[in-house]
Amino acid sequence: MPSKRSQPVTARVLSGTNELDISHAALLLKTSRVVAFPTETVYGLGADATNAQAVSRIFTAKRRPADNPLIVHIASAADLYKFNLTPMPLPPLAARLADAFWPGPLTVVLPLSEHARLAPAVTAGQASVAIRVPRHPIAAALLARAGVPIAAPSANLSGRPSPTCAKHVLRDLSDAIDAVVDTSQAIQCGLESTVVDLTGVPTILRPGEIAASDLQKATGVCFRRAAEHVQEGVVPKAPGMKYRHYAPTAPLYIVEGGVEGAVDDCKAAGKRVGVLADLSVCTRLPQVAHVICVPCGDDGSAAGFARALYASLRAFDGEGTNAVAEGVDVILAVPPDDVENGIGEAVMNRLRKAAAGRDEKMPSTF
Ligand code: TXA
Ligand code: MG
Repeated sequence: MPSKRSQPVTARVLSGTNELDISHAALLLKTSRVVAFPTETVYGLGADATNAQAVSRIFTAKRRPADNPLIVHIASAADLYKFNLTPMPLPPLAARLADAFWPGPLTVVLPLSEHARLAPAVTAGQASVAIRVPRHPIAAALLARAGVPIAAPSANLSGRPSPTCAKHVLRDLSDAIDAVVDTSQAIQCGLESTVVDLTGVPTILRPGEIAASDLQKATGVCFRRAAEHVQEGVVPKAPGMKYRHYAPTAPLYIVEGGVEGAVDDCKAAGKRVGVLADLSVCTRLPQVAHVICVPCGDDGSAAGFARALYASLRAFDGEGTNAVAEGVDVILAVPPDDVENGIGEAVMNRLRKAAAGRDEKMPSTF
């Protein structure tokens, strides 16, 4: 007879505004269950990081490759001592980053302590551990009550856009996790945390809301940026960087400058074309057959674009209130204006990943 664990489970939806529900979610986490919860960046899929069985359920639910380590979430920097995650005292640079940005959307990769009791799968056998203190009040309450370090990747199926609401989580994982804590409030950032590596030359492994300039201002240190595209045969510092990410089903191209010409080229090639752009760009495009706009933000800002991006990408796969039911053959993504620093740089990083190497140029047959 199959074990109870291998039976499909249907996630229970808990309310983020109900104290009892948050305590229940914390209890589930303490007792080997996997629970999705909101953070200020995206929803995470949490499990007790010291419990190998619970951690393995994260990898199974997400269909995540075993060589991709998980971020350990803690309630405060003091938990670094409590859980012996990294050798103490903290190096001065790490201490300054923790002071300046925790709680908040910054993940710091530090040497793994030999006394850490983490399940080996959390660090995927690496000698380092990625640590984050989220500032979302539901995440903070849950971590404080769980009393254990919580391993939590984004709560999506591997390769899909990260979830920015509970419905996204349920769409991807409802049969594979125990519960999701819902919040009706919109998530603040909409893109995953900035990941910095402090185990060697200080490096930004993944851009996020906290910009290189913010890091430099707080620490006086100029952080390197890791290469975005991973070369064949090279093991990247953040293994997640080598995987296809955020990609909708239809091929996505980044279009800078006038989108009208690109739309015409696609139409001439007989394609059903989707446009992902700020509302102001969408309303300027003529309403014609075979062109479907999904607005991504409505104030022209990179922050607004970032908040809407994953829901808009999911809309092209038929999800949510903007769902494109009939599908499209190609998606043209028009980035917001300010993409040079901070959240704008992070938006471009995610768009390039969603374009999966189709860097900016459309085939001439379009
Ligand atoms: O905002 C976020 O960071 C969200 C929320 C839920 O906290 N989490 C998130 O986790 O985005 P995930 O697993 O989707 O992305 C974590 C990234 C991956 O690219 C992974 O390879 C990298 O961090 N990472 C984790 N541990 C690492 C380590 N020890 N060394 C280098 N990179 C690491
Ligand atoms: Mg992820």
